[in-house]
Amino acid sequence: MPAPAEQHEWWQRGIVYQIYPRSFRDHSGDGVGDLPGVIEKLDYLQWLGIDALWLSPIYPSPMADFGYDVSDYCDIHPLFGTLADFDRLLAEAHRRGLKVILDFVPNHTSDQHPWFVESNSSRTNPKRNWYIWRDPAPGGGPPNNWLSNFGGPAWRFDESTGQYYFHAFLAQQPDLNWRNPEVQQAMFNVLRFWLDRGVDGFRVDVIYHIVKDDQFRDNPRNPNYKPGQNPHHEFLATYIADRPEVHDIIGGMRKVIDEYDSRMLVGEIYLPVERLVTYYGEGGQGVHMPFNFQLITMSWNARTISNAIQHYEASLPSYGWPNWVLGNHDNSRIASRIGRPQARVAAMLLLTLRGTPTMYYGDEIGMSDVPIAPEQVQDPFEKNVPGLGLGRDPERTPMQWDATPGAGFARSSVQPWLPLASDYSTVNVVTERDDPTSFLSLYRRLIALRRAEPALHIGAHEQVATPADIGELIAYVRRAGDRRFLVVLNLSDQPQAFTPPASEATPVTGRVALSTFLDREGESTQGKIELRGNEGVIVELRSAQSNP
Ligand code: NOJ
Repeated sequence: MPAPAEQHEWWQRGIVYQIYPRSFRDHSGDGVGDLPGVIEKLDYLQWLGIDALWLSPIYPSPMADFGYDVSDYCDIHPLFGTLADFDRLLAEAHRRGLKVILDFVPNHTSDQHPWFVESNSSRTNPKRNWYIWRDPAPGGGPPNNWLSNFGGPAWRFDESTGQYYFHAFLAQQPDLNWRNPEVQQAMFNVLRFWLDRGVDGFRVDVIYHIVKDDQFRDNPRNPNYKPGQNPHHEFLATYIADRPEVHDIIGGMRKVIDEYDSRMLVGEIYLPVERLVTYYGEGGQGVHMPFNFQLITMSWNARTISNAIQHYEASLPSYGWPNWVLGNHDNSRIASRIGRPQARVAAMLLLTLRGTPTMYYGDEIGMSDVPIAPEQVQDPFEKNVPGLGLGRDPERTPMQWDATPGAGFARSSVQPWLPLASDYSTVNVVTERDDPTSFLSLYRRLIALRRAEPALHIGAHEQVATPADIGELIAYVRRAGDRRFLVVLNLSDQPQAFTPPASEATPVTGRVALSTFLDREGESTQGKIELRGNEGVIVELRSAQSNP
């Protein structure tokens, strides 16, 4: 039996909503979203029912990687506003009961950060060892075969000092040397700077990358790599990510967080489940949650997802709180990956699974990827490695608030930094708010139900076997005390009937609490449940007391 709700922290009970600040709401009129824009939309977020917002980076930055290249960790980029705007955002969010999570980018700084400018200035500069500098290989050339995530070698030669520095991403994003205790202390103080201001937690960028092999060994070739794939995958990341020493450093971050009440760390980690769960740390002294990206990375079919849910649940350490993510600023939107009708089923999955859901802005109205013409490309990844579909602009386009020119993101006279979707006159908040069966209405109803029912936000998860011949269904029960909800999801576009296998103790006698079509609430169920194509239902099961 799960512990009562009051024994769970806000980040366990609640729902996280990711805002990509450049694309949420442009208040200043320059075509780029900003903090006053986010403040304007806090009432919307409260109405939607989420609990915490995560802001992608808002710090001063040359914007080579749109903010993931930080040149000052303790200020706000003028594009987004000022520290005073940030304090107002925090106060206004807190006044509405919303938590605020910042993006912490520890792996690398901008090459314009004063630390790197110093480090780069001479071999004897006291900050030289704050970054990863190496001599050329004996015959000349880069020290080893490590590749950048954004294409090409991960080493950049500096003529004036005659050494290479390591950059896991762009050359404008040199990696910090986390083996250096001075770097650790400086970065821990960055955390304290924001914690003292009142932020509630951090999403930690590529946390599993921050320590590299101390012997700088070559990465092994990836036997599964095929030309035409992301060139970074030609080699395995054996010596540049998920190194054993990383856990001590994360433990150090966690200690800083624990100096404060009720704050949290969620780590960005793309690793198989066996490796992922090690990031909870020994005895839970790592991140509070390592992001679980399986719903993004695996293929969308019932068998695969059912098995993944079971495997993930079984792999969690006793102190590990689960979480699920459907989309983010680095991956194609869910409505484009699986189609808009099926994305409603995905919404029900995300919001009924055990574990903290993280939503991506715009997914709640069913936004799709926006095609980006070559001359509109902004993302440096697409510019470096063009034509392979790796660019991330399509999922970063402006939020669609209403049907007016500019979609309520920016004034009509202003050119947004990325193009608006062509469907914004129908797919937008204002239109969908007034439509009782819209995507937005579905999200809002799902969120309201999850919030109202401890079974759904903190309850136990019990997988229900689905017979092999109805392979496109996923079924599970969420339970707290005598409240039980059966969730049945049809991952196909064909009608399916769900009958629990004879061996299962799960009766289906109950009442439909919600269908993804939002048109059969209150319907009684008995014996079996008929589902339309692309339909999911939540059935409130009759309690044991009323069904002796
Ligand atoms: C992961 C972030 O999510 C991505 O947007 C960024 O480009 C890289 N880390 C580098 O910071």
